[in-house]
Amino acid sequence: ILNEAETPPMEIDDRVAVHEDMRLKYRYLDLRKPGMQHSILTRHKVAKAVRDYFDSLNFLEIETPILTKSTPEGARDYLVPSRINPGKFYALPQSPQIFKQLLMVSGFDRYFQIARCFRDEDLRADRQPEFTQIDVEMSFVDEDDVTEAIEGMIKHVWRVVLDKDIKIPFPRLTYGEAIGRYGLDKPDTRFEMHLVDVTDIVKHSNFEVFTKATKQEGIVKCINAKGCANFSRTVIDGLTIFVGTYGSKGLAWMKVTDKGLESSIVKFFDAKIQKELMKATNAKKEDLLFFVGDANHELVNNALGYLRLELAKRLKLADNNHFSFLWIVDFPFFTKDDYNKWTFTHNPFSAPKKEHMEWLLKKQNVSKILTTQYDLVLNGTEIGGGSIRNHKPEALRCVFEIMGYNKEETDEKFGHIIESFSYGAPPHGGIAIGFDRFVAMITGNESIREVIVFPKNKAAESMMEDAPSEVSEKQLQELHIKLDFVKDVRNVVLDKIRDILNKEKIEYEVLEHKPVFTSKEAAEVRGTELKQGTKALICKTEEGFIQAVVSGAKELDIGKLQKITLYKKIELANAKEVRKATGCNIGSVPPFGNLFNIKVYFDKSVVENDIVAFNAGTHTKSIKMKAKDLVKVVNPVIGEFGK
Ligand code: AMO
Ligand code: AMP
Repeated sequence: ILNEAETPPMEIDDRVAVHEDMRLKYRYLDLRKPGMQHSILTRHKVAKAVRDYFDSLNFLEIETPILTKSTPEGARDYLVPSRINPGKFYALPQSPQIFKQLLMVSGFDRYFQIARCFRDEDLRADRQPEFTQIDVEMSFVDEDDVTEAIEGMIKHVWRVVLDKDIKIPFPRLTYGEAIGRYGLDKPDTRFEMHLVDVTDIVKHSNFEVFTKATKQEGIVKCINAKGCANFSRTVIDGLTIFVGTYGSKGLAWMKVTDKGLESSIVKFFDAKIQKELMKATNAKKEDLLFFVGDANHELVNNALGYLRLELAKRLKLADNNHFSFLWIVDFPFFTKDDYNKWTFTHNPFSAPKKEHMEWLLKKQNVSKILTTQYDLVLNGTEIGGGSIRNHKPEALRCVFEIMGYNKEETDEKFGHIIESFSYGAPPHGGIAIGFDRFVAMITGNESIREVIVFPKNKAAESMMEDAPSEVSEKQLQELHIKLDFVKDVRNVVLDKIRDILNKEKIEYEVLEHKPVFTSKEAAEVRGTELKQGTKALICKTEEGFIQAVVSGAKELDIGKLQKITLYKKIELANAKEVRKATGCNIGSVPPFGNLFNIKVYFDKSVVENDIVAFNAGTHTKSIKMKAKDLVKVVNPVIGEFGK
């Protein structure tokens, strides 16, 4: 016996579905599963194939710094405080963008790196706070040189890793064509079901929703869901709610039957218009036409673009064994931000298309300037992007001027790169492929977390080692950091509770008050009765934490709680354990143990109230709501264990 093994907390078997939280907490066991082993092995093989490919073309793999100054890739930076320089911070790189361009100035004219990048952004299935790019930069190149190099790389990876041949070059679509046909700039081209612009046809109809949109220079687009005339009202209502999440005020539809178009709104479209609609959408018997119209073009494109994907999912239109690559080109360089100021769509260091350089230098026709940006899309996922760079200092300055930076601001942020370009920078360009997404697509995984050994969850936490975590007072002192404000930023808990209550359309009130630490103080500042407060107590049992909630006027009777829960050992958790279990300080824990994956027990003294109030993750904010609503969203076991 080399070592004795406990029974693992979860089954190590690909066929047994285990909650992802559990898998992430015991990731080192999860990784033992054959499926995970295969994904990580494939990740290695892809990385090796990429390195071999670039090496054979005389590219050098060069590492760039991790402690650096922030680069404007459009996300928030992760910052690292400097102990030696009080009050100053490094930023973790969002990408090696500036360094790789400086390497071009240094004469390393073929660079690549499998590089770690850090972005503090809202996470989704295909986004992690730290992720990996296949990062590439080359001197003396144009768009075709870069796209050819990447097509060659992908062909090589497919041959070596999947033993399959892939057809290159990949098709290209302009941004305008992609939006027109698919509504999105990362279209899934494995199936058709194109969007059709019917604005000109319906603008003469009597359907007010559409005529109103067209009068406001809006658009009306349509997709033909082939053979879907049998969709029920319930299904269509569901899809109406779906497009509503993209801001659409509705989803108009018409079924194609023997007698032509049918729906409650058909009467607003005369025979001629109906005929034109059928022709434009190639509508045949049994088809179902969906329409969205709005003054806001982006809204229409988004709503129908995602409806197209949703319908394809339901109708199983996409072949999962097929890889459909394409390049999207001719993006607009600038777009207006939320404050109506110009900002870059992709990368401020991109060059405009040659024919638009004149406009950039004269700062004319800003909305019409197109960039040399190219994005690589695979089966509806953006797996990479890059551009030819703007290597002329004066032209680069124009980009920042259009964005409203004055000379000092530009110099402060980008002085080093602009200066470097004044010493004979070669024309250059490059690209970065999202390595995790690339490997996830190759291994047929929906989430990039499946191809990362120790990923973060959607709250950017690592469940396994419990990061991020608090640090000691001494460490903070050395870094000259004081956490006074941070303590109240524990409003994450409040936000989560609000989300749940809003989603369930439950009425509640948030009270702000001076810090309170006891039920009595709390009742005073809230103007509620003592018994309407809740003591949400975290308890330790032989099997982990539970939460026992009694009214503010009662104490916990541990003996009775033991009888109800059948735990042999129950004791109150100490301050450190409470923080570990909930992230909240003692006295500010809400009776929402389910938020922290802790089983919750309510004493009947809590539910005897009409209204209850509790601290919501901070000592200075309380939520007041109906006890019966609280029970509805927390779903506790209710028993009697107060005294
Ligand atoms: P960009 O920001 O488009 O370009 O990033 C390149 C690719 O990286 C992947 N990606 C991500 N993958 C996982 N998690 C994330 N949070 C995440 N963010 C991006 C995407 C994306 O297409 N410096 C430029 C490249 C260049 O111009 O050379 C850049 O970083 O697949
Ligand atoms: P109403 O006139 O609100 O009863 O809407 C009639 C139909 O038009 C319903 O099927 C709505 O879902 C649909 N509808 C409403 N607004 C829009 C819109 N902006 N685009 C497409 N359809 C819409």
